[in-house]
Amino acid sequence: SVFPGMQAASKEVAKRIDILIRQKAAEGKNAVLGLATGATPIMLYDELVRLHKEEGLSFKNVVIFNLDEYFPIEASSAQSYKVFMQKHLFDHVDININNVLIPDGMIRKEDVALFSIGYEAKIIASGGLDLQILGIGRTGHIGFNEPGSAPNSGTRLVSLDELTRSDAARDFGGKANVPLKAITMGIGTILAARKIILMAWSEKKAEIVKKAIEGEISAEIPATYLQLSNSVEFVLDNDAASLL
Ligand code: GLP
Repeated sequence: SVFPGMQAASKEVAKRIDILIRQKAAEGKNAVLGLATGATPIMLYDELVRLHKEEGLSFKNVVIFNLDEYFPIEASSAQSYKVFMQKHLFDHVDININNVLIPDGMIRKEDVALFSIGYEAKIIASGGLDLQILGIGRTGHIGFNEPGSAPNSGTRLVSLDELTRSDAARDFGGKANVPLKAITMGIGTILAARKIILMAWSEKKAEIVKKAIEGEISAEIPATYLQLSNSVEFVLDNDAASLL
């Protein structure tokens, strides 16, 4: 769906999450959300915080799996996705912090494979992702699944694309400070979600959005794998949808 602006679009996605969380609570169940970082979902998180503070939306029955984390990175570092999520969402809602899972950017390299298997197992044990929120990188990455990612890939350690590292340079005060790697949920992990919403705003994303939706499915643009699922919805503003 296409909205006049990112605010209207973010509010709509927040409303859907609100409905999902309340529905699950009424059934005595957890809502299992896969969440993303980056500039794109910030307004969505702002709106969820507002719904918590003003409309009584509780996160007590919410389980969150974050998509990815830089590697290596200290959890307490200003650029870590853990700090990002705390700052934009977790610190402002009544979520049980034990229900929040984010890949560990400080794990020893030799432990990453085991960690990744555990992450997948925890998603499955929680009942699977009810909803996965995605942004999109200019390389066509979702999570940090860069070009070359396989459609059935699971959580794993990946190398970041040069363009992705350039785009992150501002956050890190220079490209040289951007980690070379990340731990990300895989394409297979994402596609297993019962519902997927990819959000994109601004003309900067128009070209990659067009490729993701209309391009041939290929590892060159990992977001094209979303065409393999019929549970995917693109939520765009007019500018991001302008080339469709
Ligand atoms: C990062 C994240 C992605 C995100 C992408 C786009 O690389 N790992 O999950 O979708 O950037 O970021 P932005 O929303 O800031 O454009």
